[in-house]
Parts: sequence; C-alpha cells; structure tokens
Amino acid sequence: MVANRRGRSAHAKRRLSAVLNTVRDDLRAARDRDPAAHSTSEILLYQGLHAVWMHRAAHALYVRGHRFSARLVSQVSRFLTGIEIHPGARIGRGLFIDHGMGVVIGETTEIGDDVTLYQGVTLGGTGKQGGKRHPTVGDRVIVGTGAQVLGPLVIGEDAKIGAGAIVIKDVPAETTVVGNPGRPVAISGRRVSGPELEHTRLPDPVAESLESLTRRITELEHQLGSTQGGPEAPPAPRPPTPGPEVRTPRKG
Ligand SMILES: CC(C)(COP(=O)(O)OP(=O)(O)OC[C@H]1O[C@@H](n2cnc3c(N)ncnc32)[C@H](O)[C@@H]1OP(=O)(O)O)[C@@H](O)C(=O)NCCC(=O)NCCS
Repeated sequence: MVANRRGRSAHAKRRLSAVLNTVRDDLRAARDRDPAAHSTSEILLYQGLHAVWMHRAAHALYVRGHRFSARLVSQVSRFLTGIEIHPGARIGRGLFIDHGMGVVIGETTEIGDDVTLYQGVTLGGTGKQGGKRHPTVGDRVIVGTGAQVLGPLVIGEDAKIGAGAIVIKDVPAETTVVGNPGRPVAISGRRVSGPELEHTRLPDPVAESLESLTRRITELEHQLGSTQGGPEAPPAPRPPTPGPEVRTPRKG
C-alpha cells in the first residue's frame, strides 16, 4: 500500500518535471525567436503560447480517448486565441506561433522541435480522404505568414517556407521555398539559379540572322574576288554589331 503510494507520487513528480521542462522550452522558443520580446512576463501574455499549452492539454485527453473533452479544450482555445489546432496533431518541443491569429493545424499534422509559424499559416489537407492527410514538418522549420502547406507532404529539417507560399509537394531539408506553387529559391543558403529571364538580355533572333547573312556575303565576295584574280583585297570582316534593343510593349 505504502509502496504503491510512493510509486504513484514518484510517477506524478516525473510527469510534473516533464511538463515544466516543456513549458520552459516553449518560453525559451518565444524569447529566442521574437526580437520584440523584452521579458518573460511579457511573453506569458502571448496567445501563441496559450494555444500551444492548451493544445498540449487537449492532446493528452485525445490520446487517452477523451475525444469530446479534447475537442472542447481545442475549441475554447480557438475562441480565446484565434489559433485552431486539432487535438490529434502531434507537436514537438519549442513550437513558437508568432502573432498567431488565423493559424490552422490539421488532425494528422506532425511538427518537430523548435518550429516557428507565423499568423495565417495553414498546415492542412487537400480533400476529404481519411488517414494521414496533413503535413509532417521537420525540426527548426520556419513557415512564413499566410503560407499554406497542404497534403501529407514532408517539409525537411531547417527548411523555410516564404510568406504567402502555397506548398503542395515535399520540400527537402534546408531548402527555401516561395510563391504559388512553391518553388525552391535557395538550398543550404545558396541561391538556386534559373533560366535568364531579364528582358533586356533576351536573345534577338532577327539581329543574329542579319549578322550571319552579312558574314556570309563577305565570305562570298572574298571567294569571288580571288577566283577572278581581282586586284582588290577583300575587306576584313567587321566585328559583329549588337542587335537592336528588344523593347517589351508597355501596358496601358
Ligand atoms: C522566404 C524567406 C524566408 C526568404 O528569405 P531569404 O533567405 O533572405 O531570401 P531572399 O530575401 O534572398 O529572397 C530570395 C528570392 O526569393 C524571393 N522571395 C523572398 N520571399 C518571398 C516571398 N515570401 N514570396 C515570393 N518571393 C519571395 C525574393 O524576391 C528573391 O527573389 P530573386 O532571387 O528573384 O531576387 C523570407 O522572404 C520570408 O518570406 N520569410 C517569412 C517572414 C514572415 O512571414 N514574417 C512575418 C512577420 S510578422
């Protein structure tokens, strides 16, 4: 009996210490990643933190099968914070939801450690299918404001998703993705080079043909002069002249 009580109390202590460690990690995440944070007491007011903590309570109920209570906690959290996290979502340590309003995280989402999400981010599904249908987000990923990450895709560790991006395919680790549909612009800090699209440097096919014709005529004149034994030396071929600038028509 006494041994039983001691066992329970040791278990409760271990659980409390785990909860306190998680709380400390969440606070540290906000302090480290928000340059506007001046003190811990200020951080305690952040609704991003409140949403994460309420989610941790909701998830604990969810995994124990208390689906209604879990959903109730999550809905209350949504009402208070403007952040909707399904109680089934699995979230690692140190998640920081900055500003937060409008964030939606779906049921089968998995989020690693030290991830940062800004306001308006959706980690959602693409249809009504069951099973795993939401993203898996690696450690230290940053998802910019308003980005939509949709489907059971994988965002690799240390990836960055640009503000407003719509991502529907896997993103490799350490890759920065922007735009709609999301496209990589940097890998491991190095710019991804694409085709030359600067309008003033577009090739000019008409100028190139004229240049080639001029060269050919000069060659033919030279050959004609040498077969006729003419006295005149052929003129040296002129260096190619740059083609006329390509102007793109202005709109309006
Ligand atoms: C995606 C992001 C992380 C890239 O930052 P970065 O590594 O410094 O990259 P750069 O600024 O050098 O941009 C690289 C290219 O992507 C483009 N780009 C950057 N962010 C973009 C975005 N959100 N949407 C579309 N294009 C973007 C840049 O114009 C640049 O294009 P270029 O190569 O044609 O010049 C950053 O721009 C971003 O969106 N961060 C989210 C910030 C946020 O949500 N803040 C909320 C505060 S409340």
